[in-house]
Amino acid sequence: MKVMVIGKGGREHALVKALGKSQSVERVYAIPGNQGMDGVECFNDSVTDVQSVVKRCKSLSVDLVVVGPEDPLAAGISDDLRESGLLVFGPDKKGAELEASKICSKEFMDRHGVPTAPYQKVSSVEDVLSVVDQFTPPYVLKADGLAAGKGVFICKNKEELLKNSKDIFENNVLGDSGKKAIVEQFQPGFELSFFVLTNGSEYVSLPMAQDHKKLNENDEGPNTGGMGTVAPMEISSDLYQEIIDKVVKTTVSGLEKEGFVYRGVVFIGIMVTENGPQVLEYNVRFGDPETQVLLPLLDGDWGQAFKTIAEGNIPKLQWKKQSAACVVIAAEKYPSTPVKGVTIKGDLSSTSDEAYFLHAGTLKEGNEWKTAGGRVLNAVGLGTSIEEALSVAYDKVKKVEWPGMQFRKDIGKKALKL
Ligand code: GLY
Repeated sequence: MKVMVIGKGGREHALVKALGKSQSVERVYAIPGNQGMDGVECFNDSVTDVQSVVKRCKSLSVDLVVVGPEDPLAAGISDDLRESGLLVFGPDKKGAELEASKICSKEFMDRHGVPTAPYQKVSSVEDVLSVVDQFTPPYVLKADGLAAGKGVFICKNKEELLKNSKDIFENNVLGDSGKKAIVEQFQPGFELSFFVLTNGSEYVSLPMAQDHKKLNENDEGPNTGGMGTVAPMEISSDLYQEIIDKVVKTTVSGLEKEGFVYRGVVFIGIMVTENGPQVLEYNVRFGDPETQVLLPLLDGDWGQAFKTIAEGNIPKLQWKKQSAACVVIAAEKYPSTPVKGVTIKGDLSSTSDEAYFLHAGTLKEGNEWKTAGGRVLNAVGLGTSIEEALSVAYDKVKKVEWPGMQFRKDIGKKALKL
C-alpha cells in the first residue's frame, strides 16, 4: 500500500522509517517531511491546510494517512480525509480536543472517573487570585490551548504564579492558547508515558517509555519538547494493572461513550504518586521522542498495524526482546531561540539497524547539513538492554559536532535505577 505521513520532525522520521521497513508498504510519502527522510517523496503543503492535504492524498491514491502532530488533528484533518474516503490513523476533531483543550480533557477525566489532580478553570489574574488558596505550592498553571510544550508553568510560589498568569492573560505571551487556563494541584511522583492504540472502544498497549523533559542533567533547566527517551520501562505488575484498570480502561470507555471517531493513539502522561497513578495530560498523537524508541521494538509490520486501527480493528502486536534509547541533540540556545544555519560536522549517513540518526530540524545546503530547528538530530541506539541501547546511542552522538550543540548525558539513568 501507499502511505502518507503528515509532519516533519524526528517522530515523523521514525514513522517513515518504520513504514519503509513494513512488508505491507510499497511507497511512503510525507507532507512536508524533511530532507533526512531517504526514499520518501515529500510535498511542501501546509499540514493545517486540510483541503490541500486531502487533494494531495487523493491525487497520489494513497491507501492510508498517518498523522504525526497535534495541530492538523485539532484542525480536523482526520474528519475531512475520512469524508473523502481515505483511511486515517488519527482521531477526529472532537477526539483531538483532549489535547487541544486542557479544560476539555480535565472535564472528560471528571466525567469518566479517570484519576487526575484537583483543578480550577481560570481566565484572568483575578480568577487565579480567587482560587489560589485551594492549592498548595508549587502551583501548576496550564494554558488551555496548544502551546508547543510551552503552556505548562510549575510555579514555586504565589509570586511566580501571578507573574505567569499576567504573562498569559495580560501580556498574551501564548496568544489565544493562553486566553483560558487551569490551576492544578502539583503531584509529586515519577512520570511515565503510556501509549495505547485504539479504535475508540478497544485498545492494545505499547511498551512504556520514559522521556526527559528538562534541558539539563538532573532534570534542571527549562522545559523542552523532550531531550531523550528509553523503552521499554519496567514497572511492577501491580502498578501496571492499576494503570490499566484506573487509567486506560476508564479513558477508552470514555472515548466510546463520547462517541468520538477515535482511530489512532492515545498518549497518556501519567504521574505515579503515593495515591496511585494520576493523569497529567492526554496527547492524541505519538510522543516525540517516545516514538523514536517505541517503533523499532515492534516485531511486525507497522503499516499493517496502523491500517488495522484505521479500519476500526485492533492489531495483535508482538515485541522484540530489545531495548531502545534516543538522545536528542539540540541547537545552541534551544529551547528559547535556537541558533539555525550552523553547519553540522561529522558523519550523518552511516547507519545500521541498531544505530542511526533521525532528522528533527536539519536542512541540506549543497553537501552540508545545517541546523534548522530546536531539536536537530536524534541519535537512536538499540541493544539487548537499556544500558546497551544507551551506549550505542551515545556512541552515535559522538559522530557529529557543531558549535553550541546540546544534549543530556544522563538519559535513561533513572530508568536504570528503577
Ligand atoms: N515527548 C513529549 C511529547 O511528545 O509531548
